Amino acid sequence: MTTIRVNTQAFSDQKPGTSGLRKKVTQFQQPGYLENFVQAIFNTITPSSNQRLVIGGDGRFYNREAIQVIVRMAIANGFTEILVGQGGILSTPAASCVIRKNKACGGIILSASHNPGGPDEDFGIKFNGENGGPAPEPITEAIFQQTLKITQYQTIDYNDIDLDKLGTLQIAQAQVTIFDPVIDYADLMASMFDFDAMKQLFQQGKFRMCFDAMHAVNGPYAKEILERRLGAPIGTVINATPLTDFGGGHPDPNLVHAHELVALLHGDDPLDFGAASDGDGDRNMILGKRFYINPCDSLAILTANADCIPAYAKGLAGVARSMPTSRAADRVASAMDIPCFETPTGWKFFGNLLDAGKITLCGEESFGTGSDHVREKDGLWAVLFWLNLIAAKNQPVRDIVENHWAKYGRDYFTRHDYEGVDSNNAQAMISQLKAKIPTMPGQTFIDKNKSEIKIESADDFQYLDPVDNSKTSEQGVRVYLSNGGRIVFRLSGTGTQGATLRVYFDCFQQHPDLLAQDPQHALSELVDIAQSLAGIKQFTGRVKPDVIT
Ligand code: G1P
Ligand code: ZN
Repeated sequence: MTTIRVNTQAFSDQKPGTSGLRKKVTQFQQPGYLENFVQAIFNTITPSSNQRLVIGGDGRFYNREAIQVIVRMAIANGFTEILVGQGGILSTPAASCVIRKNKACGGIILSASHNPGGPDEDFGIKFNGENGGPAPEPITEAIFQQTLKITQYQTIDYNDIDLDKLGTLQIAQAQVTIFDPVIDYADLMASMFDFDAMKQLFQQGKFRMCFDAMHAVNGPYAKEILERRLGAPIGTVINATPLTDFGGGHPDPNLVHAHELVALLHGDDPLDFGAASDGDGDRNMILGKRFYINPCDSLAILTANADCIPAYAKGLAGVARSMPTSRAADRVASAMDIPCFETPTGWKFFGNLLDAGKITLCGEESFGTGSDHVREKDGLWAVLFWLNLIAAKNQPVRDIVENHWAKYGRDYFTRHDYEGVDSNNAQAMISQLKAKIPTMPGQTFIDKNKSEIKIESADDFQYLDPVDNSKTSEQGVRVYLSNGGRIVFRLSGTGTQGATLRVYFDCFQQHPDLLAQDPQHALSELVDIAQSLAGIKQFTGRVKPDVIT
């Protein structure tokens, strides 16, 4: 079989963002575009002794085509063992699990996470290393540098392989194995949680739940675990078949996009528990009966109750949250006397802490929660954690959360997103905000009760990694206020069109009023302060955010 080398034109726009390279499908379909990035990955990681590679994706449009290209290139680049999820399917956490279990040198995951799919929508690719986690900054930067300079890629002349047929093919020096993408992950979950207690919860027949897979990758995983292994009634998992366009929806588990699920938890006869995950299965949204759990609270509550779960019964090494995530987990960590780390946005920063054994749990406000069982956030794991808690405590979701607030106080949280903003204007807004940082402390605002709210401190967040001492700067402007509030401004690193401005608000109350629960109300003063500090309207031309979570 001949290995052909083909010239590739230079592409200048392949800088990986918060989680890999994300572009429109049409951009990936340009001749040589995908190949350029894949060759850049292979040049960067140069397989040596370990030549085992895992490949899979979230099933979105162009997933299968991309996998065929990558398999051919992996063979031409000398990999000896290539593991591909059947049908091209592999959720992000399952990919992490499979890389670790098989001691692969890494994996290529095809996904644009929660972004819509289809011929005119988004596609994405990222490389995860041998620890199963997203490649750290120096590697993604090296990949980017390669994308700019390579002039050729290697591939073989070979027909498409059958992605649906389980089994192993020998092609040149490589064994290409199509494997069941669900089993290893489901076994891992069974080893961590008290499946017997959860089975009983369903057997008793009173507890009713729904999992909305949003026509994304977690459908087959949720069916296997919830319906087959835990005995939840058939039909518990809705929208369970992965579709290339996610059925036309946004596979993003929030109150807006998971509306079918939200209706089941809020109707006349609401269910007890609802959950959803995103395109590639790493995000989660958890709902109780007429009750929404903010992901920041979720991380804090899972931390506080980890001893209910077999996998964490021996205690937690520590916990980490991304900087914009509310400080609810910090309070729990301090009460438990374990360290709490504040990292930049994006899962890759948790990897070092997990590898070094400094933390056991971690999470982000953006519906991402996870632990040291893999090196990605894990949507279904979070759902099972909550199910296990409900079974162990024998309490409804609302009681678990309200008891938590009663003990630790409540951190109100909301995020306001302005999407598709002109990039120059968004950059200009952030620049002028940064310039104002030195003069911010001491600045005062008058709230609606005519009392003063003062800025106590402000900075542009930078992170010194405690494991490898690497420094990451310009991670968002943080403003701390005298009423216990905080405002964070940052630009998204995952958008594919224009810029997305994210403004995060949180505020602590030791004795929250359980009847006045709306965070938009509790945080309205901070929203006004953000407006006057940053001039969002003037710079973006927007009078209100596009998405509020
Ligand atoms: C967003 C989230 C971030 C998450 C990332 C990948 O990134 O805010 O927490 O890690 O998606 O799922 P952003 O668009 O804000 O850069
Ligand atoms: Zn995702």
